[in-house]
Amino acid sequence: MFKTTTYIERRKGLKESLKSGLVLLLGHEEAPMNYKDNPYHFRQDSTFLYYFGISNASLAGVIDIDNDKDIIFGDENSIDDIVFMGPLPTIKERAELCGVFDNRPYAELDTYVKNAINKKQHIHFIPLYRGESKIELMELTGIMPRDVDAKASIELLNAIIKQREYKTDEEIEQIEQAVDVTVDMHVAAMRVARPGMTEAEVAAEVHRVALAANGNLSFPIIATINGQVLHNHYHGNTIKEGDLFLIDAGYENEMGYAGDLSSTFPVSKTFTSQQKDIYNMTLDAHNASINALGVGIPFRNAHIAAAKVVAEGMKSLGLFKGIIDDIVETGAYAMFFQCGTGHMMGLDIHDMENYGEVYVGYDGKPKSTMFGYKSLRLAKPLQPGHVFTIEPGIYFIPELMDLWKGENRFKEFINYDKLQSYRTFGGIRNEEDLVMTKDGAKILGKKKPMTTEEVEAIR
Ligand code: GLY
Ligand code: MN
Repeated sequence: MFKTTTYIERRKGLKESLKSGLVLLLGHEEAPMNYKDNPYHFRQDSTFLYYFGISNASLAGVIDIDNDKDIIFGDENSIDDIVFMGPLPTIKERAELCGVFDNRPYAELDTYVKNAINKKQHIHFIPLYRGESKIELMELTGIMPRDVDAKASIELLNAIIKQREYKTDEEIEQIEQAVDVTVDMHVAAMRVARPGMTEAEVAAEVHRVALAANGNLSFPIIATINGQVLHNHYHGNTIKEGDLFLIDAGYENEMGYAGDLSSTFPVSKTFTSQQKDIYNMTLDAHNASINALGVGIPFRNAHIAAAKVVAEGMKSLGLFKGIIDDIVETGAYAMFFQCGTGHMMGLDIHDMENYGEVYVGYDGKPKSTMFGYKSLRLAKPLQPGHVFTIEPGIYFIPELMDLWKGENRFKEFINYDKLQSYRTFGGIRNEEDLVMTKDGAKILGKKKPMTTEEVEAIR
């Protein structure tokens, strides 16, 4: 946990910005895999973690602004819990570490919330993404699970985003540590991968490094020779000479902060010249998007900069024709670059995504629904303290080629005949994590191999 004053200040800031009402923050329950006592790896809800810092199951936090009370509701471990899990710090002890000196049995939450409702206090809550939390909210407030998102407090979301989006120095230190371990995970994969191994064996090495660092994964590992499948979690293929291997994996440290990096390397010792050409194109797009970053400049500009480089590169290969600005504006570029250039990162790898991308990444303004642009999670102007990823990629997706060709879509821009020879090329993505400072964007963590020379040197 951070020092006690961090949590006190965060809750104080939230109270000052909301001014009235009761903020109800539900922590997570254990989530059973196949029976109650066999749960998934426990992960606390990030909002609860941000304001209370306690990573124990079955807790709820109340920030009662009208009555100036911070309360943690939760039951102390029974002797049965202690027999099976050993003596652990009590909820009272943990609550005190986050500056909460009022902790009560969980059963009292119901009466507390119902009294507040009777007194016409406004109950602020965030959109919920776990069934158990939705049922709990229904029992406490009568709000049906299907209505939770619509009835969530936009005022609360905006107030939380205004705090969480600006990472403090102590948070950046945590994120940087998570990124450092993430770099180790990627370098380990580059070192061990050999023709004849399975994707799963490489993924296991990535996971090993995360576990050995005393944390875990910040999201399920992508370790694949089919990098064109953007979120590919299948690890059953055997890797062979000539394949490209894409890793997208991140570390989550003990405080819950995330790293998120992607790398692409040849399964052979070196890239083929065609692989090198496309790889360098993704690096050019990467560097162009970093060069487009600045304080007060919309992140959308970084995406457009990357899209332009991809369009120019593909035009130089004869796969695109026409005017670059038109290829980018119409969305034709998304034949090769279907995802967004980056997203916020912090306690979540897609930081605060549960609050809604429009609030987190677009300042509440509507998002494009156009293929390609709709996958851009962050578009708003960046400010010092924003932590985000840069991850443009190039992907040859046979199904997309066939679909658009069949529809004659963008036939004025795309040379479909020539494109056929790239059907089995796959996909390439590199990703880095950055923080915006008053002096410009800075890459976080230790250096990850990026150039073809740096990657080949490890292979
Ligand atoms: N690294 C996975 C993602 O950004 O969606
Ligand atoms: Mn990412």
